[in-house]
Amino acid sequence: MNANFISTLRSYLDDFEIRPITRGTCYRVMPVFDSNNEFFMLTEGKPITLRSCQANIEAIPPGFDINNKLYLGFWHNKMCAAVLDLLIGYPKPDCLYIGLLLVHGELQGTGVGRKIVEALAAAWKGTGIKAANLAVVEDNKKAIAFWKKHGFKRTGTSTAIVGDTCVNVVTMVRNL
Ligand SMILES: CC(C)(COP(=O)(O)OP(=O)(O)OC[C@H]1O[C@@H](n2cnc3c(N)ncnc32)[C@H](O)[C@@H]1OP(=O)(O)O)[C@@H](O)C(=O)NCCC(=O)NCCS
Repeated sequence: MNANFISTLRSYLDDFEIRPITRGTCYRVMPVFDSNNEFFMLTEGKPITLRSCQANIEAIPPGFDINNKLYLGFWHNKMCAAVLDLLIGYPKPDCLYIGLLLVHGELQGTGVGRKIVEALAAAWKGTGIKAANLAVVEDNKKAIAFWKKHGFKRTGTSTAIVGDTCVNVVTMVRNL
């Protein structure tokens, strides 16, 4: 199912090469993380390191099957343009959870995020997934505006552990 999902996603994103990221290949996407220092200062209170990036790749909620986590890099013109962290079947079997969408700092505002979200929405249509959920750090107003623009509605507030910090988050959902 996850391999099918990735190939469907590929069919909606012709101009990107999509590759799963592993602990071993994580260094290749570090420029995306390093160019988003402001985001990590806001969310985790410190810059991200290769080690914390590797920990993110393997981070799952208790009891979740790691095989249903997708950690994908999107390459364009030999540059990693974005990283997407997805949990399929979380928090309910017919839901998807967007753990992170991070666009390379030099490419933000050029439509990369929009293309990925719209491809994702098209790809999840045939899978039985009924809703996509996410949580955004409350102070990340730019991202909240971005998700709203893409059909996500605020459902409430909560707290989350990001790195080793507890932060206030806004929870959002987009139904099919
Ligand atoms: C938030 C983020 C994913 C958006 O991706 P992006 O590639 O920069 O955004 P896009 O260029 O695709 O913008 C898509 C649309 O959203 C709009 N948009 C983007 N940022 C916006 C903002 N701050 N306020 C209002 N609208 C915004 C754009 O105007 C654009 O509209 P259009 O499609 O009508 O032209 C990206 O900026 C990012 O990685 N930010 C840092 C990390 C982050 O906050 N991630 C989200 C938390 S999970």
